[in-house]
Amino acid sequence: MAHWLFLWFTDIRTILVCVVAFLVISWWTRKPKNLPPGPWTWPILGSLPNLGISLYRSGLQPHQFMAKLTKHYGKVYSLYLGNQLLVILNSAESVREAFQNQYLVHRPTIKMPEKLVAVKGEGVLMSSGAHWREQRRFTLSTFRSFGVGKRSFQDQISVEVKALCEEFSSFKGESFDPRKLLSNAVSNIICAVVFGKRFEYSDSKFHELLHLLDKQIEDAGAGVAAIFIPIVRYLNIRSTPANVRYERGQRLKNFFSTLVDDHREHFDRADLKDYIDVYLEEIKQVEGSERAFNINDHNMIATVSQLFIAGSETTVTTLRWALLYMMAYPEIQDKVQQEIDNVVGRNRLPNISDKEQMPYTEATLMEIQRIASIVPLGVPHYASEETTLFGYTIPQNTIIMSNIWAIHHDPATWKDSEIFRPERFLNGDKLAKQPEEYLPFSAGRRVCLGENLAKMELFLFFSQLLHRFTFKKPKDVQNLCFDGKIGGTNSPSDYRIEAIARD
Ligand code: HEM
Repeated sequence: MAHWLFLWFTDIRTILVCVVAFLVISWWTRKPKNLPPGPWTWPILGSLPNLGISLYRSGLQPHQFMAKLTKHYGKVYSLYLGNQLLVILNSAESVREAFQNQYLVHRPTIKMPEKLVAVKGEGVLMSSGAHWREQRRFTLSTFRSFGVGKRSFQDQISVEVKALCEEFSSFKGESFDPRKLLSNAVSNIICAVVFGKRFEYSDSKFHELLHLLDKQIEDAGAGVAAIFIPIVRYLNIRSTPANVRYERGQRLKNFFSTLVDDHREHFDRADLKDYIDVYLEEIKQVEGSERAFNINDHNMIATVSQLFIAGSETTVTTLRWALLYMMAYPEIQDKVQQEIDNVVGRNRLPNISDKEQMPYTEATLMEIQRIASIVPLGVPHYASEETTLFGYTIPQNTIIMSNIWAIHHDPATWKDSEIFRPERFLNGDKLAKQPEEYLPFSAGRRVCLGENLAKMELFLFFSQLLHRFTFKKPKDVQNLCFDGKIGGTNSPSDYRIEAIARD
């Protein structure tokens, strides 16, 4: 009897403890009021169990799965991953409104142990507040002063396309994977802006730089989970051990530091040749002032590496999709080439002043950017203060994601959204007014800083390559694969291509 009573008390106590614990946890993790609608949330785990299982079962990519959730919760919805609240924007209207809001321009931070961070500055891409404003304003004005993305800059890009065409020609119509060569050419354009020089493709230092940047992008992709699910920061579950990541970061930092030292040695205030020269001058100007906290060597190196990260992989991936689609749709490739030949002729290469007269080429590039949506979930934003969006409350510390893929594939906007059809951007034989729902570079205060440069690069690379070559599927390849691979960007799987020289 006593034994039974003891058990009864123990059970009652256990049950009471469980109930109290459940109530405390539920209270602690209760949802704030007036959030955008969203899926069922468990205490502590948020919607991770239900969404994780559904995502796994669906076999979809995260951006596709998130697009599907709009059927239940609408275009703006919220969800918890663990205790982190996320708001997902699936319409252009909501992205434009949210990213114009001054309280939604911050980036989430990943706090890493200091000893694991090789590049100490915050740079422009992932920083917030005054720190970000300084880097962004400085970088934009320096780009402007060098004419980056302007007409005067096209010769720099054409030099790279020419070098690339020579490499393509060297295969004499045999198939090859264009990925590395495209990466050399596009990275060299950032090198020209930042270091004031290009590298030969055979230069071993250039190879090292590209290798380290590639790894940095891979690691960043793998680290994205840590932004959303805080516990991941503390579990070292990434495929690359922390010390290897640190050692790579250190090598990258040393690479840039050597170039900065070289610039310091040959510095001439009267002749500022590149981004680093202008940054060094700015560091001198702000010496001893409060701005020196933001404008310094650490941030220069961090911003430079982020310009490579944000500017190369994105452009290369878009060009890889472009060549893949041209291989797959020879009739569209033929139309682009006809337009090039009509406007430019065969005796010179297309340049940026031809662009206005080449609506079909432009529409084809836009369709490639739409259908591929290479930054499918944008870059995360963060609520620095509580604010409202479409009447909903967005609490402080919420992460805001823009589902650019969903916006570009919404059947309500894009008829037959999965079909590759450049004509959707045309009105008769003219380029139609750019649809509001076309957002490859995002929108608002943090809109892509390299948008003008990227558009110029895409036009010159695409039109000059198609002027020189016809791209064909190798005969031994049965089917082309259009499934995107999510890494740093939504990229195509590696493929081989034949570049047949045109007369
Ligand atoms: C096809 C090529 C490109 C695409 C599709 C693209 C797309 C994007 C997107 C979606 C964002 C996020 C904006 C946001 O936070 O809402 C972004 C940010 C950014 N992009 Fe690009 N980008 C491209 C090329 C470039 C190039 C060539 C550069 C520079 C050399 C560049 C530099 C940046 C930087 C620095 C940011 C961060 C801006 C900030 O946080 O203030 N991008 N880009």
